[in-house]
Amino acid sequence: MEKEKLIERAKEARKLSYTPYSKFAVGAALECKDGSVFLGANIENSSYPLCMCAERNALYNAYMHGYKKEDFVAFALSGDTDEPISPCGACRQVISELYPSNAPIYMTNMKGMVRETNVIELLPFAFSPEDLK
Ligand code: THU
Repeated sequence: MEKEKLIERAKEARKLSYTPYSKFAVGAALECKDGSVFLGANIENSSYPLCMCAERNALYNAYMHGYKKEDFVAFALSGDTDEPISPCGACRQVISELYPSNAPIYMTNMKGMVRETNVIELLPFAFSPEDLK
């Protein structure tokens, strides 16, 4: 899928967010090898620490449909930030384990800025399943 199309899906995903507290909608779109796209948006809660980010919701959405790390080819994130939206630390840890290290991550904003990155840049020296052995 073209990069622009995936970014458009991430932008659309923002509409699915539930953000009565922050009023800050984030969207994510995860593309798979077979062309499937899984969306995520942030879902908040009155017990604030339970808020869940768009990035993790997209990954968990794909996993709940039977897709896995090796199936993913691109990941787009969208938010209304001055600079392209950058995932939080918790999401970086989850992305580093569930998303392939050699696949692109497109961080974008509503002004049309796109910054391409990857797992290694986002979380060098990540704690990983190897560390549990
Ligand atoms: N949020 C995300 O969903 N993804 C990010 O990359 C940054 C932050 C959410 C969490 C919370 O619902 C709101 O944005 C404000 O922090």
